[in-house]
Amino acid sequence: MRSSVRNATDLATVKGELLVVCVPAEPSPLAGPAAEADAALDGAIARSVADGEVKGEPGSLTVFHAGPALRAPRVAVVGVGEGSADDWRAAGRAVASATERAPAKRVALVPPPGSGPAEAAAFVEGLGTGLYRFRRFKSGDDEPAPPSRLMVHHPAVRTADVERADRVVAAVNGARDLVNTPGNHLTPTMLAAHAERLAAQTPGLECTVLGRKELEKLGAGALLAVAQGSDEPPRMIVLRYRPETARPGEVLGLVGKAVTFDSGGISIKPSNGMEEMKMDMGGGAAVIEGTALIAALGLPVEVLAVVPSTENLPSGRAVKPGDVVTAMNGRTVEVINTDAEGRLILADALTYAARQGATRMIDFATLTGAIVVALGEVYAGLFGSDEEWTATVRAAGEASGDLAWPMPMHERYAPLIESTVADLTNSSNKRQAGPVYAAQFLREFTEGLPWCHLDVAGTAMTSAGGTGFGVRLALAVAERLAGAPAPPVRT
Ligand code: BES
Ligand code: MN
Ligand code: ZN
Repeated sequence: MRSSVRNATDLATVKGELLVVCVPAEPSPLAGPAAEADAALDGAIARSVADGEVKGEPGSLTVFHAGPALRAPRVAVVGVGEGSADDWRAAGRAVASATERAPAKRVALVPPPGSGPAEAAAFVEGLGTGLYRFRRFKSGDDEPAPPSRLMVHHPAVRTADVERADRVVAAVNGARDLVNTPGNHLTPTMLAAHAERLAAQTPGLECTVLGRKELEKLGAGALLAVAQGSDEPPRMIVLRYRPETARPGEVLGLVGKAVTFDSGGISIKPSNGMEEMKMDMGGGAAVIEGTALIAALGLPVEVLAVVPSTENLPSGRAVKPGDVVTAMNGRTVEVINTDAEGRLILADALTYAARQGATRMIDFATLTGAIVVALGEVYAGLFGSDEEWTATVRAAGEASGDLAWPMPMHERYAPLIESTVADLTNSSNKRQAGPVYAAQFLREFTEGLPWCHLDVAGTAMTSAGGTGFGVRLALAVAERLAGAPAPPVRT
């Protein structure tokens, strides 16, 4: 879907198959475009407000058939609640599902005068992500085509505002495609090729892919240990975005776990639900798409993205419980559980990002089942070594809609990761503080830099499939580092 801006002076002349007007939490009395639409519909909207059918709750939606007074055949009245970004996203999603029930090629949004670019952008995000379907493997597709155009009629909204939102949508939906793609259609090699294609399309973005040989030279023993059970070779995908003007001395390091299929390895997972583990690259997908988005929008922030990618499979060559491996930074790790593979591959990726010049880092990783139990599908777990940096990441999450809730780290947890035979263990059988354990482990590989870890096991995929969680958060963090956050939305 492509968005643009028009400025009809009169509601009657607005083109498109579906005209969208908005009502606030308290819709009565109708005002602005909603009141104009009501007049054109001979008071039908006001009567529906009076009998309680039209409500202002975010995402509640009623469709009216328009008469000769309007050019558009249908009018959707959608609630935008208190007008927060989340409320406008919900309104956009509601319009997306309305166009499924009654197909429309062109949707026209006439937002109320008090709204502006941020509200329009949030609506575009909701609509564009709401229209997403993963139909790559469906033959004989007879679903009606989704709308191809959104026209926003508002004097304070510029085409650049909605085009930017379109790019955000494309990146989020791109990450969802990667998460939804099964392991046989998205190997580490294919993910790397995808990153290379994005880089080729994006000015200022460069991609380098490290294979087994290069990883051996670097001593990436932790990533290589996870990869050794599979016939598919591992990849370390490195994206560099160097804008012409950037804050000097600041390099945002984004690290994303990309296990394209996690069977657990020798510590194999139960077969029930194992197919979901094609999503174990959700962190890497967010980092790749998020970095390409930051570059495509030309943010003045240097970014170094590092995505370690591998399969985790059992075989005669697979890493075994009890094996000791040496990570890139020289630390030895006793592998207690081969299913705790994410922290192993991230260990080497964090070391690599730090040594390649990242000045502060965030990793995105589908790391633990326990974070799903603790926080469900709504909040990612947020861990950090630096209070200020953690606060920045949390605030970026709130603003972007990719929510992250602070979880503790503490020296007193340190004994959990001690080993009797090596420097560290990757797991323990204590069944204590699983997500914290993982964060304490990762911290050992951050070279003392300000770092945050986002455990996105619950948020990267829901029952409806990949979410693209992390793309918008990464963008919002980059905006904060650039010192130019998007205009705030009223809350
Ligand atoms: N990829 C899984 C975590 C996961 C679980 C992601 C559910 C999404 C949904 C991870 O590699 C894993 O297996 N973690 C283990 C760690 C344990 C062995 C310490 C887990 O959570 O059970
Ligand atoms: Mn695992
Ligand atoms: Zn995993």
